Amino acid sequence: MAIVQRPRRLRVSGGIRSMVRETALAAADLIYPVFVVPGSKVKKEIASLPGNYHLSPDMAVDIAKAVYAAGIPAILVFGLPEYKDERGSSAWDMNSPVQQAVMAIKQALPELVVITDVCLCQYTDHGHCGLLNGDKVDNDPTLPLLAAVAHSHAQAGADMVAPSDMMDGRVAAIRELLDRSDCSDVSIMSYSAKYASGYYGPFRDAADSSPQFGDRRAYQMDPANSREALKEVALDVAEGADIVIVKPALAYLDIVRQVKDKFLLPVAAYNVSGEYAMVKAAAAQGLIDEPRLVIETLTSMKRAGADTIITYHALDAVRWL
Ligand code: PBG
Ligand code: ZN
Repeated sequence: MAIVQRPRRLRVSGGIRSMVRETALAAADLIYPVFVVPGSKVKKEIASLPGNYHLSPDMAVDIAKAVYAAGIPAILVFGLPEYKDERGSSAWDMNSPVQQAVMAIKQALPELVVITDVCLCQYTDHGHCGLLNGDKVDNDPTLPLLAAVAHSHAQAGADMVAPSDMMDGRVAAIRELLDRSDCSDVSIMSYSAKYASGYYGPFRDAADSSPQFGDRRAYQMDPANSREALKEVALDVAEGADIVIVKPALAYLDIVRQVKDKFLLPVAAYNVSGEYAMVKAAAAQGLIDEPRLVIETLTSMKRAGADTIITYHALDAVRWL
């Protein structure tokens, strides 16, 4: 019996494989996260995220230059503030590291897209993403604070703000304040489907943002749910989100695909700290081929439908492409 269809025929050479390859990964698909701290001339490797650094605003400019030179179009800025309090007021302080770094980066590199993470957990002394009422995170009084944070980032020159708090109604609150303050061109990249995940551990060490009691399950999503992710995305779209994030990425590629198929706006996948740390740990033990695994992983996110990928591997990945 003759085998009529032989899929292997299209795998016989590198040339043919490149002709029929369905997914391409490029530097332009990536967003590099950076962690800024107070001070100057600070560049200190982050123990939980090897190969990534705590950077003072001046040193963040150096990294931003490397990112831009690599053809990566955007960075995502996280901050570790000088002081913390109950309300997280250092989050909207124009002298805090994020605002200072954004100003310095936009001045040095006007064409690099600067995105800022908007949340309160790095800035509150209790480590939760919103204001507390007893031991509960109080949704509605948190909204004006998040809007103030986003507004301060926009004033510093951010091109996009990325709310990661998972309060209901925050995209609308941010959009409204930005529009009222002449920032209608500042985009919102919303962490729409953000799950209460064990994969954030290394980030919380890096950002000093662990909740001081309890966990985030009363505001971040249940990992068991997918229809709810579509509801979250639909609400954020209605409130004015320009790009939606699915986070984490690797364990949630089914969500990336569903969001991509059901909505008309760009989808970002966040390849989070725990996903990065697993690869780094396995590579350090010689158990895997790191470049190969990283490219395979990032390609899988694009194949699932991601238009852009936030990843700590970005600078390495570009070298390995
Ligand atoms: C803060 C925030 C977190 C991440 C991004 N913004 C952590 C959290 O929700 O506790 C996670 C990023 C990562 O793990 O790489 N709201
Ligand atoms: Zn938070």
